[in-house]
Amino acid sequence: MSREPIYYLNGKYISKSKAKISVNDLGFLRNYSVFEFLRTYNGIPFYLDAHLTRLENSAKTVGIKLPNSQKMLKKIITKLLDLNKQFNEKKIHIIVTGGRAEDSITYQGKPTIVIMIGELIKNPPAIYRQGIKVITEDYNRNNSSAKTTDYFHAIKSLQKAKSKGAEEVIYLNNKEGLVYEGSRSTVFIVKNGKVQSPNHGVLPGITASVVLKLLQKEFTIIKEMVTPKELFDADEIFITATTKEIVPVVQVNNMKVGNGKVGSITKLIMSRFETYTENWSGKEVN
Ligand SMILES: Cc1ncc(COP(=O)(O)O)c(C=O)c1O
Repeated sequence: MSREPIYYLNGKYISKSKAKISVNDLGFLRNYSVFEFLRTYNGIPFYLDAHLTRLENSAKTVGIKLPNSQKMLKKIITKLLDLNKQFNEKKIHIIVTGGRAEDSITYQGKPTIVIMIGELIKNPPAIYRQGIKVITEDYNRNNSSAKTTDYFHAIKSLQKAKSKGAEEVIYLNNKEGLVYEGSRSTVFIVKNGKVQSPNHGVLPGITASVVLKLLQKEFTIIKEMVTPKELFDADEIFITATTKEIVPVVQVNNMKVGNGKVGSITKLIMSRFETYTENWSGKEVN
């Protein structure tokens, strides 16, 4: 049997089964918490600085003070990777909550921090080869620029998606006539060879930012909002996220995207990203 993972919890390195959080924690009681999710390639965290900066911004947005500096968090993560050598490629999940509140509502300024490490599970290869179906939902995330643990709507709508054979939900606002983001991903459309991704009211995706940097010399990039019509008329659509990387979308609701097959530009982008991550040594693109 493989060794239990070692987690970090409020200053201590402890085994997974001993990592316990109070039922009086504001994260549990009120969903008052933010998080980050990143992964390694070749054992090296992918864009750790960017993830830690986003964590700091998310915490600031909701009014939680991070218990550790970015420098300290990097040290802790390096140590955790060392303590969890049993895993091949690792997922790193950082959660910071409002901490304990005996009256169940007052933030005491003593946040809880947990860092969990585990084996990164690969996605089924078919989603990259064949692409996925998505459904749309009329919804906007609260505090959209922050990565909070508020995924109520995602959990609910993903069940609906699964029941329709879809893998992801794209949030749009019909009243505004704007497309925002996936429930757990950034949305891209390709039209006439140009690549476009919504630029406000969304979580700034780290995978998306890397993809855009990799493509900036080769493609015209449009960082502008997308309308539902543009989404439905797109030649190609793909979504990006840390665990999914780049996934082609071949159907939106009941409509085929382009000819219903994975598009050639999406394939090229996937291959550029794959080459970059296969050779990942910590060198960021600028
Ligand atoms: C709402 C939302 N948008 C976008 C993303 C993709 O972000 P990243 O590429 O940093 O994983 C996520 C990831 O979980 C997300 O939850």
